[in-house]
Amino acid sequence: THATSETATAIMRANDRGGYTVPTAGLYPYQWNWDSAFAALGFAAFDRDRAWRELETIFEGQWADGMAPHIIFRNHDPSYFPGPDIWGSNTEPPSSGHSQPPVVAIVARWLVETGDREDLRRAHALFPRLMAWHGWWHRERDPDETGLVAIIHPWESGRDNCPDWDAGMERITIPDDLGAYHRRDTDWVAADQRPTHETYDRYLTMVKFGRECGWDHKRIYRDGPFLMADPCVQFVLMRADRDLAVLAERFEDDAARRTIADWIARDAEGAQALWNDAAGGFVAREMRTGALVDAITNASMLAFFGGAGTRAQQAELADQARQILDLCRFGFPSWDPRRPGFEQRRYWRGPVWSVMNWMIAGGLDAAGHADLATRIRHDTRALVRQSGFFEYFDPLTGDGLGGPDFTWTAAIDLALEH
Ligand code: DGY
Repeated sequence: THATSETATAIMRANDRGGYTVPTAGLYPYQWNWDSAFAALGFAAFDRDRAWRELETIFEGQWADGMAPHIIFRNHDPSYFPGPDIWGSNTEPPSSGHSQPPVVAIVARWLVETGDREDLRRAHALFPRLMAWHGWWHRERDPDETGLVAIIHPWESGRDNCPDWDAGMERITIPDDLGAYHRRDTDWVAADQRPTHETYDRYLTMVKFGRECGWDHKRIYRDGPFLMADPCVQFVLMRADRDLAVLAERFEDDAARRTIADWIARDAEGAQALWNDAAGGFVAREMRTGALVDAITNASMLAFFGGAGTRAQQAELADQARQILDLCRFGFPSWDPRRPGFEQRRYWRGPVWSVMNWMIAGGLDAAGHADLATRIRHDTRALVRQSGFFEYFDPLTGDGLGGPDFTWTAAIDLALEH
């Protein structure tokens, strides 16, 4: 596999825009938050300084309230829609108005544990930024301190059109003055691999609400068109809080340690609000009605990574993982193939994603399910060898889908090799 790792390195270099990478040229021509966190994992295989730069540049876009936005628009590139003018966030550099799963602390701790004093120094410099961002999640997205953190847009989950969001999306009324717009994503990728037009109308309705209230996150939480809880954000934050606690320990920062300990205690409680006995797993939840989604996704499988759930819950979840993997040539699918709504080629409604697999496998290993972890890691690399470094893959055929020469797919391949 020497050849694939050379290709992976070449892809990361080609997508490097100087301190940050684009996920793929054309389709996504800016910096995305969690894409960059995973890119750092890949850079660590051949250039640790560049790995840290990737994490540091994410925080060049951090807002005064601590939020680290999901896209930073350093240039104006008409090949992507919606661009900075549609977001109207009035920040410098311009950015989107909401966040993305907080993976950075996880990667920062990983760099520290596999590195030396220089890694510790870089992590220390980033630490206040990370504390501010995690604080923002806990404060703005869980104002009642229940431990359950909400998202205000499916884009914030990173799992854009997963059927998880269908319940919340159905509640959205598209305003008459939404205006005409021209999607650019389907110029690059076949329409049957992307969200539908009806879905995009709703995405833009949420952005319009945010823009018109000046991205007042208290107001959006209270009155916005969409409010759901996401197992991916919840479990990534849980894991990232724990990793932040380990860093706080290394820095002997007692104040931070106390703050993080409170977060961690609440995280575990909040996670229980996502458990659905009928589905046999942790699922998404519509915040305003309390309704739970009735299917397992790859995000459900992050419970192990987050350290969520009782022994019995984790055993049930591992059993579900086996059943779902047995139905797929390549795991782990983004939606349960046994459920209505499964579409093997459409973005987050079925396809396999390398970054999710990396987190799932890490969690499964730690929870004592090495057989499942090994299978998922094996599938992740086999997909790339069969089809190349695509954005996502068909779980039944292994076909490469979405954008080509994708940064995070290359990064995960490198991380799994080393
Ligand atoms: C897109 O444009 O599809 C992105 O996933 C939004 O973040």
